[in-house]
Amino acid sequence: MVVSESSVRDETDPPPIGVFDSGVGGLTVVRAIVDLLPREPILYLGDNGRFPYGPRPVEEIRGFALEIAEHLVARGVKMLVVACNSIEVAAIADLADAHGVPVVGVIEPGTRAAARATRNRRVGLIGTEATVRSGAYERTMDGLAPDVDLISRACPAFVDHVERGDTSSDELLGRAREYLEPLREAGVDTLILGCTHYPMLSGLIQLVMGEDVVLVSSAEETAKDVYAALVSSNLLGRGHGAPRHEFLTTGDPDVFRRISHHFLGPELGGVRSTAIGVVEVAT
Ligand code: DGL
Repeated sequence: MVVSESSVRDETDPPPIGVFDSGVGGLTVVRAIVDLLPREPILYLGDNGRFPYGPRPVEEIRGFALEIAEHLVARGVKMLVVACNSIEVAAIADLADAHGVPVVGVIEPGTRAAARATRNRRVGLIGTEATVRSGAYERTMDGLAPDVDLISRACPAFVDHVERGDTSSDELLGRAREYLEPLREAGVDTLILGCTHYPMLSGLIQLVMGEDVVLVSSAEETAKDVYAALVSSNLLGRGHGAPRHEFLTTGDPDVFRRISHHFLGPELGGVRSTAIGVVEVAT
C-alpha cells in the first residue's frame, strides 16, 4: 500500500466533500469543484478495482454505490457527489435516503445545460450501457424541456481508453467515428457527454461531431449545484489556507496516480489504496 503522509487527513481537518466514481472519470467533476470552490477539501474514491460499472446490472452497481457511500460517510464527508452517471441511474434515490448528508448528482445539471444550449431542439446523449438503458436522461429532459428530442447512443469502449490514459489514438478515433456517426446523421446540434470519463475525450469527440455541435460536460454545472447545496445546507467551508485533498483507489495506486496526474495535474495530492469498508485512522 502506498501512503503519502502529507495527504492523510486527521480529525482536526475540516470535513471534506466526498466525490466518487468507478475510476478516474469523476476527476473531471473534481477539477470543476476545485476551480469553483478552491477552499473546499475533497475526498475522492475511485473504485478502479471493480471498474467498469457500465456493463454491470443495475442491482450490482447499486450495491457498490451504497458500500462506497457508507465508507465515505464513515470517513466524515459532509456531502456526497455522485460523479458517475452509471451510479446515479442505479442508486441516487437510495443514496439520498441512506445518509444524513446532501447528495448531488450529474444528470440534471448536464440535461439543464443541454436544454439551454440547443437551438434546433435535437440533443444527442452518449453514455455507458447502464446509463443509456436506464432512460434517465430522457425522463429528466422530458421534465425540463419536453419539446427537445433526445437521441441516445452507448459508447462502451471509450472508458477503457480513458482509464489507460489514451485520449487520442487512431484506434480510439475509429471507435468515435463508428459510435458518433448516427448522432451526426440525426442532426443533433448539442451533445451531452453522459459519462464523467468522456470530457477527457472532448477534443476527439468535437473533431468527429464538427465544430458547430456544442459539447455539454456536466462537470461545471454540477460544481455550481455543489456550491448551491453547500450554501443551502450551511456547509460552506470556512478555511483560509490551501485545503488538503485525498484520493483513494480500490485499484493499483501507482496506476491511479499516473493516469490522474495526467488529468488533474498539480491538484492531485497523495493517492492511497483502500479496501471498501476498511477505514484507516491517520496517526
Ligand atoms: N464514469 C462513469 C459514468 O459516468 C462510468 C464508467 C464505467 O463504465 O465504469 O457513467
